[in-house]
Amino acid sequence: MNKDYRPIFHITAHKGWINDPNGFSFFDGKYHLFAQHNPFDTKWGPMHWLHFVSEDLIKWDEVGIALCPDKPYDNGDGCFSGSATEIDKKHYLVYTGVKDKVQTQCIASSTDGLNYIKSDLNPFIDRHNLPSIYDINNFRDPKIFFRHGYFYVLVGAKVKEDGSHLILFRTKDFKDVTYLGPIFEMNNLSNGMLECCDILFLNEQNDECILFCSPQYKKSTSKYKYQNIHSTIALIGKFDFDNIKFVPTSDEIQLDYGFDFYASQTLRHDNINYLVAWQAMWDRNFPSEFLGYAGQFIVPRILKVENNYIYQYFNDDGLKKYVKNINQIDDFKVENQCEFKSNSPIVRYKFNIQIDKNGIISLYNSNGKGFYIYIDKSDETILFSREDSFEYIFNQDGSDANVRKILIDEGVDKLHFDILIDHSCIEILINNKYAFSALYFACGEYGVCFDNENDSNINITNFIKYEYKETKGEENDEK
Ligand code: FRU
Repeated sequence: MNKDYRPIFHITAHKGWINDPNGFSFFDGKYHLFAQHNPFDTKWGPMHWLHFVSEDLIKWDEVGIALCPDKPYDNGDGCFSGSATEIDKKHYLVYTGVKDKVQTQCIASSTDGLNYIKSDLNPFIDRHNLPSIYDINNFRDPKIFFRHGYFYVLVGAKVKEDGSHLILFRTKDFKDVTYLGPIFEMNNLSNGMLECCDILFLNEQNDECILFCSPQYKKSTSKYKYQNIHSTIALIGKFDFDNIKFVPTSDEIQLDYGFDFYASQTLRHDNINYLVAWQAMWDRNFPSEFLGYAGQFIVPRILKVENNYIYQYFNDDGLKKYVKNINQIDDFKVENQCEFKSNSPIVRYKFNIQIDKNGIISLYNSNGKGFYIYIDKSDETILFSREDSFEYIFNQDGSDANVRKILIDEGVDKLHFDILIDHSCIEILINNKYAFSALYFACGEYGVCFDNENDSNINITNFIKYEYKETKGEENDEK
């Protein structure tokens, strides 16, 4: 069997390991994304930044390694995660240098968006700037942003005693740096910390924003939430620059309920908010290793804030350039079984489903294997199962990594599904409100099948299937 697992729209390294997305930015007419990368193995190792560029946020070109661990302050565990910005027509990367476990914040810049030179000021934030309650060995993932005449750098820091804070620094020139204090705190992280922080300002007029971070070992208080070992959360709020405070207006939002999602990063460009994340999870096996790569990213999604909540959408504008076929089917009732085949391993199914008891949606492939979605009216839940995957995925602590149930607050009677499948991974958006990201290893084309096993009333409306091709075609530009 040809194990054609490698996704096309989801970033992977041509060879080696990747974890967190870094430096998500727009510079010199292109989108840039970097990945935490070990070029020598399909496992985590000395961290480099692997560079990808794109014109449409769908297909990415791998253009080489932007940062190597080659300086006295980073030639240990390497160049850890960080962010990017443009200053005076130069592209700046801000990252964590790790040497002898000591973590410091560093910068590199480029005029051509390809070759990056590390600054003589490095490290520009180190133990001298860090209050002694924090652990210098767990002080990482700087997010740089410019606001009201200053550069701000937000960094995750583990408190020596317990818990973790996101702490803020301010500078004009990267020489004089002022420590401003913590803006977000979380306790009870079993010795973990808040990784990969991010802040996304939603407009230029006021300081409304979304704060993101990835708490390690976040404890779950509900069997329907935060079921991964590590999680990614977001809070909508406002940044109060006078008092250096983030004032949340929303509760904690779980960005994705799936098995594989961590370390998100955002980019606001042309008034659109994009979200990317590592489509994997720590403390698991990586079944694609035998193909020479491990780790991948979700296809950047679009974020919109409505009613103090975050809604997620696939990037229609980017995807439409790759459409090979569109099939729109008249509304139909599922008596028994209704199935639709696909002629491409990259496919999207979009539909509304109305249900009074329960129903099953299977994303099955030519080998008869399926990723199953069980909708259950009796407890307003949806259960996802990837137990049928050709490659078995497991948590190293032995806990389950293949079945997940989520609660739909508004009930399951009427749901909108948007499902994007790309070879060995699936992203599902339900009501654009609940996102579910999963690796799922089967080969071939995934059809969709609706099953009515319990004499339910199941009605499907506005069903559209998009089959995609790997390269964009002029002829489809208008679709
Ligand atoms: C999160 C993380 C970051 C760190 C990077 C190292 O996945 O642990 O905190 O910078 O990975 O590769």
